[in-house]
Amino acid sequence: MRRNKIAIIGAGFVGSTCAHWAAARELGEIVLLDINEGAAQGKALDLMQAGPIYKFESHVTGTSRYQDIEGSDVVVITAGLPRKPGMSRDELVAVNAKIVKEVCEGVKKYAPQSYVIVVCNPMDAMAVYAKQILGFPRERVLGMGGALDSARFRAFIANELNVSYRDVVGMVIGNHGDAMMPLVRLASVNGIPITSLLPTEKINQIVARTKQAGAEIGGLLKTGSAYYAPAAGSIEMVEAILKDQKRVIPCAVELNGEYGVHGLFVGVPCVLGKNGLEKILTIDLTPSEKEEFNKSVQAVQNLVDTLKKL
Ligand code: APR
Repeated sequence: MRRNKIAIIGAGFVGSTCAHWAAARELGEIVLLDINEGAAQGKALDLMQAGPIYKFESHVTGTSRYQDIEGSDVVVITAGLPRKPGMSRDELVAVNAKIVKEVCEGVKKYAPQSYVIVVCNPMDAMAVYAKQILGFPRERVLGMGGALDSARFRAFIANELNVSYRDVVGMVIGNHGDAMMPLVRLASVNGIPITSLLPTEKINQIVARTKQAGAEIGGLLKTGSAYYAPAAGSIEMVEAILKDQKRVIPCAVELNGEYGVHGLFVGVPCVLGKNGLEKILTIDLTPSEKEEFNKSVQAVQNLVDTLKKL
């Protein structure tokens, strides 16, 4: 039986951690590609040598040549600069757009049937741009933001209540930036609304911390930004597609009228399976949630406008 092939573009912190999670979960053959060939090859070798210890069957290779991603089923784009402390994701637009263009041209040529997951920031705008260059249908171009932001939201809720992460349900929709939208009304512990378990003040703190979670980590690291959870969120999406899991994960996808948005990537709950984006689930937002969602949409629009001026 043919194994799945996963190309991870960018072998930096996020990319190499994606390779790590994907190998540990035996999702398929992994190709790490980086402009810095030595880094890609070195990390691939290092990870491969952990195989006999953890007994995973994934083959991992490193390269700087796009030919080597030929026939990939899924491509995860992590190439790009990370944020520096105090920098917003938006400030990365110009520099990362150039990288995304180069990467997408390689992906279009060598993996034209792949499902593409865009991780590099500012993710919403990079996803719009990637889709434009790739020319793939919207089912095959997905932005990773909601998977991460929702995990952060759930982690903070679970820690606050001292309950298992497994029992916390919660989603963050909207953009992957300061205007993201943790859905408090629908967050629960096995169906028990968090609004009945936590005081409003605590919930507000969790919401604020979720929105700033990336900046909090960046500030502590001083150089670079978060990578364990971003990589886990990315591989959660890869796994949902490769295993046809029909998982419901908030992803940035091109909306064509859903949620009243046309032609823009915004994070919404998506069913992910073997056809990539299989369905968008519609939430009946309250008037105040709609207002918040529109702010998120506007934030993405502003980024896209910046991108157009480049
Ligand atoms: N082609 C391939 N790889 C590239 C290119 C390119 N044109 N340009 C840069 N890279 C590689 C770098 O060589 C580096 O190894 O991308 C990698 C980026 O890695 P890091 O600097 O460690 O950044 P990382 O923390 O992994 O973040 C990558 O993901 O979460 C986002 O905001 C983050 O945009 C950033 C991206």
